[in-house]
Amino acid sequence: MATSRIAGFYNLSLDERLTELTGTSGLSAVDLAAFQSAGGLTPDAADHMIENAVGLHSLPLGIALNFIVNRREVLVPMVIEEPSVVAGASFMAKLARGGGGFTAETDEPLMIGQMQVLDVPDIPLAHSALMEHRAELLAEADTIDPVLKKLGGGARDIEVRVIEESPIGAFLVVHLIYDVRDAMGANAVNTACEKLAPHVEIITGGRVHLKILSNLADRRLARARCIIPVKELAFTVGAGLAPAQGDCEGRPYTGEQVRDGILAAWAFAAVDPYRAATHNKGIMNGVDAVVIASGNDWRAVEAGAHAYAARSGRYTSLSTWGKDADGNLTGFLEMPMAVGIVGGATKVHPTAKAALKLMGVKTAAELAGIIVSVGLAQNLAALRALASEGIQRGHMSLHARQVAIAAGATGDMIEKVAAQMVEEKMVRIDRAEEIMATYTGKQVDK
Ligand code: MEV
Repeated sequence: MATSRIAGFYNLSLDERLTELTGTSGLSAVDLAAFQSAGGLTPDAADHMIENAVGLHSLPLGIALNFIVNRREVLVPMVIEEPSVVAGASFMAKLARGGGGFTAETDEPLMIGQMQVLDVPDIPLAHSALMEHRAELLAEADTIDPVLKKLGGGARDIEVRVIEESPIGAFLVVHLIYDVRDAMGANAVNTACEKLAPHVEIITGGRVHLKILSNLADRRLARARCIIPVKELAFTVGAGLAPAQGDCEGRPYTGEQVRDGILAAWAFAAVDPYRAATHNKGIMNGVDAVVIASGNDWRAVEAGAHAYAARSGRYTSLSTWGKDADGNLTGFLEMPMAVGIVGGATKVHPTAKAALKLMGVKTAAELAGIIVSVGLAQNLAALRALASEGIQRGHMSLHARQVAIAAGATGDMIEKVAAQMVEEKMVRIDRAEEIMATYTGKQVDK
């Protein structure tokens, strides 16, 4: 794809956007057809995915523009119900282009399977016996998934941890480190742990209780970096993406002011768990939206993210912001990223297939790199807004549209009602109903 910049995309109709997308991405309308049907899935397909299915639940799918990840232009599909998120990511990706976009890297796709070994008669002896049988256990685990093995994956290591104290006393934990290649890996790892358990019992003389993957995928970290030229951060309130009226309208901010505001905002998250939770939620707005669009397990990614954020014993920010020798803003995000491009819903869900195709990813690592880049961009969008005009200004006009829709507005009426509520600074469903009544002449039930 030549560019992920599409001027005026925001102002097009839904159909025009899809036409523009096929033109820019080089994909066919058939490739992206799933974006058009409500949610992409049929009720029949849903019935094969979960139990007791009765229907579908759709969410909006938007395209984040302007992204360059590892020198590659990429259009990023995002599934999210919250206004401002797609616009925020796109806007920050545009600023990041001045510094070359995002640079992403990932660890090998190593997942951890855990076996909890109870009733071990002699823990130190069992520990050393497991180490002696390490090669044997690895060889056994390697036979479990010949397809994965053929693709270069498989068992990599056995680690033993002694839990000295717990509500049930001491026990052993065996970690199986497993290379899952382009899969998310839960199935492969869970199967391997279940198969290995009888052998572990013989070696330790204990009883293997739990056999399950760990979502703290800290051997499978993904990292994104960006440099935002300080001059790109300068702006005047009201000249942004989502015009709305506000008290700070017309106020100019220098790049240095915005940068220092972002650094102070980050410092808050770095030291305070109350702020860090919200700061990281902003990162996950971007991360989850792409994880969901690609058909991956966002609960697994969420669990890994927050456990990783608390790894020092104190919950902190997943991202780090600083400035380089030239005064430019530098951003860094590191987090576990257990996502795949094979298996699970990635190959079953039509929208997920279209999303992966649009991003042009050939490996799970590439997908992970895009996801963390969007997470970093999203974090920047929130910090920039919070450190300058505040979050509500940009949010308000989009929020007002949702309130207008909730009040029953359709078509042109949505914009009219939303614009009036924003101007009046009164975005409430009862006011939306009153405004609609002035157009339709209908009485509002009080
Ligand atoms: C809202 O969905 C996300 C933010 O609260 C993130 C943040 O405070 O950094 C704006």
